[in-house]
Amino acid sequence: MVSPRGEFTSRFGFVAAAAGSAVGLGNVWGFPTQAASNGGGAFLLIYLLLAFVLAYPVLMAELIIGRHAHTNAVTALRNISPNRLLGNIGAASGIAGCIVASLILSFYAIVAGWMIAFGLAYVADLFRLSSLPAWLTAFGLVRNTVFAGLFIAITIIIVSAGVQRGIERWSERLMPTLLLTLVALSMYVLTLDGAEQGLKIYLLPDVTRALSTELIIDALGSAFFSLSLGVGTMLIYGSYVNDKENLPALGGWVTLVDVGIAVLAGFLVLPAMYAALHNGVEIFTEGGALISEDTLIFTVLPQLFDTMGFTGSLLAIAFFFLMSIAALTSSISMLEAPVAYVVEEHSIERRSAAMLIGTVIALASCFIILNFDTLFGSVIKLTTRYGQPLLGFMFCIYAGWVWHRDALLQEIAKGYPDARNGLFWTFWPWHIRFICPLIILGIFAHMLQQQV
Ligand code: PHE
Repeated sequence: MVSPRGEFTSRFGFVAAAAGSAVGLGNVWGFPTQAASNGGGAFLLIYLLLAFVLAYPVLMAELIIGRHAHTNAVTALRNISPNRLLGNIGAASGIAGCIVASLILSFYAIVAGWMIAFGLAYVADLFRLSSLPAWLTAFGLVRNTVFAGLFIAITIIIVSAGVQRGIERWSERLMPTLLLTLVALSMYVLTLDGAEQGLKIYLLPDVTRALSTELIIDALGSAFFSLSLGVGTMLIYGSYVNDKENLPALGGWVTLVDVGIAVLAGFLVLPAMYAALHNGVEIFTEGGALISEDTLIFTVLPQLFDTMGFTGSLLAIAFFFLMSIAALTSSISMLEAPVAYVVEEHSIERRSAAMLIGTVIALASCFIILNFDTLFGSVIKLTTRYGQPLLGFMFCIYAGWVWHRDALLQEIAKGYPDARNGLFWTFWPWHIRFICPLIILGIFAHMLQQQV
């Protein structure tokens, strides 16, 4: 029976949607340069380790609670609590998660808007529309607002269509497209002169750099961001999973795809940077480090594309198309978290809820754009450095301590009858009770200490 609140119709649909949420700008953009500047192959190993040791268990906590409750994060955390006080704290954490998800979307939409604008600039260039590309690629109030608004509008349309006809259908289309574009682009870039050097930098391990505490802390923060944890997104996707499915395996797939695509993106971005160097583009900062983040995407890579004529324009279009898709499959999951809550708790129709919340988020984006220098960085820091890990901590506490162990096992066993004797049940309950919360607290202690 298909539940009236919507349900993923296939395993592939769920993995596409959840991996779509996880795979975003962070993977294609953040990971490769972080790896290159921080010890190459050694960083890669630490990233893999963190993804499976810290992020995967928290992802599982969200998926299991979500599927058990078959409802949004706010109601789910309330329902699994044994008393009123814990119920209220849980519900408050759920609401905080919806707010953090909305705030993440408000800055994410601005960056995603730039990706769309840059892609269109190269299309306009092909048609020799002379002044348009300059406008599309220059940092400006109108351009930023128009494209962030456009991106949020597309997100609203998909979320309005519901779980099957919106989220599942579009994730099933977009994720394979993303993978194909990524593979095709990296294969092509690897044939360019200079690319080999980038590959070496990416893969040769330099253990001394990868083992610094600073770096491990950063990697932990990005692990939460990368798997979309703490904000109730994965919980709500878990709530749309059929009881027959084996959750630990599904979660494993999502983590693998997320990490796999980040690693694959390294085969595109690093070789591309060194190919750019070969063509005379500056790829190091004054301090000698590799250029990363926005300068990389919006300056270095376009400079590379510009040295390659017509082929460069096609590459650029494919590249920014890829980034826009990665952003879109993530943004639909961000909007779904607050929308599901409002639909289920306040009986507002899905379309109106998506429209209403999407509009509020668009206004928040405008506000950030108007106060860009003061707000952009702070909102990112507030949500990803503090919000997500802290809320992730709450999920560990609710799954590990508040909810009854037998109920947890029963939930897992629904789609995995032999769960009690499996590897997952041997490790996970301890892990989510002690190891994950301690790691998160450790990071916070370290962060606070540094700020004093
Ligand atoms: N995981 C997404 C990325 O890597 C970001 C995200 C965070 C998505 C929180 C949903 C919720 O870009």
